[in-house]
Amino acid sequence: MSPGSGKGRLVVVSNRVALPRAGKPASGGLAVAMRATLETRGGIWFGWNGRQSTQRPGKPHRQLAQGVEYLTLPLTRLDYEEYYQGFANRMLWPLVHYRLALLRYQRKNHEAYHRVNAWFAEHLMGILQPGDTVWVHDYHHVPLGAELRARGFQGPIGFFLHTPFPPLDILRALPPYKEFLHNFSAYDLVGFQTRVDEHAFIEAMCDGIDARRERKDGLSLAGSRTKIGVFPIGADAEEIAGQAIRGRNSNQVAALKASLEGRRLIIGADRLDYSKGIIERFRAYRYLLSTRPELHGEIVFLQIAEPSRSGVPEYQVLHHELDQVAGEIIGRFARFDWMPVRYLGRRIPRPTLFAFFSVADVGLVTPLRDGMNLVAKEFIAAQDPDNPGVLVLSELAGAADQLTDAVLVNPYDVEGVGEGIAEALAMSLEERKHRWRRLLAAVHGDDIHHWGARYLQALAEAADWRSAGERP
Ligand code: F6P
Repeated sequence: MSPGSGKGRLVVVSNRVALPRAGKPASGGLAVAMRATLETRGGIWFGWNGRQSTQRPGKPHRQLAQGVEYLTLPLTRLDYEEYYQGFANRMLWPLVHYRLALLRYQRKNHEAYHRVNAWFAEHLMGILQPGDTVWVHDYHHVPLGAELRARGFQGPIGFFLHTPFPPLDILRALPPYKEFLHNFSAYDLVGFQTRVDEHAFIEAMCDGIDARRERKDGLSLAGSRTKIGVFPIGADAEEIAGQAIRGRNSNQVAALKASLEGRRLIIGADRLDYSKGIIERFRAYRYLLSTRPELHGEIVFLQIAEPSRSGVPEYQVLHHELDQVAGEIIGRFARFDWMPVRYLGRRIPRPTLFAFFSVADVGLVTPLRDGMNLVAKEFIAAQDPDNPGVLVLSELAGAADQLTDAVLVNPYDVEGVGEGIAEALAMSLEERKHRWRRLLAAVHGDDIHHWGARYLQALAEAADWRSAGERP
């Protein structure tokens, strides 16, 4: 199906659209996954272009690449501050990550959330044609389905949440939580990363706003039927393995290896976000160094932390804290000929990152809570089969449901994470290979191309079920 062919188009909506820029690959879980799905199937990707403008433009900017039509809009300064920074980043993001102490609620920000979603819906109504399927992504756009229905769109609309979904008692900290929940009944299918999220959602809908369960995988509310499903997002394992192999011979990898002087490499790579547990990870590494002096001079921890949402105060605090803990470890343990920590506060290109993963002995993925965490899957996909590294993974990441052969740790248990790293460093080659083969099979089992196809198939079925329920 190609964009503009009239019928049956896929229209993807997400807050941030990864615009193709001179052959640069997309980065970030949502962006990589959506680009893979759209480039296979064709369609439209609608959303914010990441910029701010003084006033709202009359129509979205249009760009065509690889069979995908990108339609993007800037946000006004006020919408950026109130909807994106205020409501999405300071209210919904900490809420879905169970971080009540970080919530900042303001009514004007909640109004902006609805204002921006209504504005997106207005533009979409000018684009949508009968037969189109709309696929909405993430917490930024929960009300969008209802806004489209209110304007008369009757085609299939699916929603997928990339983040966790919190239990009702946490969700209730959002003052208009009932209104938030009601929005979901506009969708034909609501998809989650894990069973835990799905369970929390069903409970919130039934106990919070009196939705009724219908069959095993459906809910009904005020005459509307919505199906629920679990669709764990995957990584493009083959593509990553290819990039890692090519990158192993690059100058960067040669320079990294030379600089290690035979020391073993522990690596972490995250968006600089408090949900990723980076501070706690540094504390675990500090614990490891303080309890295992025999490792001094033998290991190096490389943390790559791409700056993110840097206008939001909680992220500025995190940045500062990370500088502090990294500095403290260096001050306490470094020797004139050994730096225990290397901290890169910037993004590095994905092919280089995958090549770095492939030469690392240990990968640290220890979020305090995460919808999936694709870095865990990418680390596995990038490993050298003859000498695979070990993944130390948080039990509180969605990926832990599938990657059960990783060294699983509780990120709040700093000593436990430190011991997990020690266990990973001590693992025999035979054990590493055995675990890695099983982990790779799990990563292949949830390949990114299956993910999009599976979700869209389920959405088509859900739309049939919903319309069957509407018949007199
Ligand atoms: O995965 C959650 C998410 O909010 C995505 O929607 C987004 O692309 C990514 O994190 C990065 O966040 P932001 O778009 O706020 O920079």
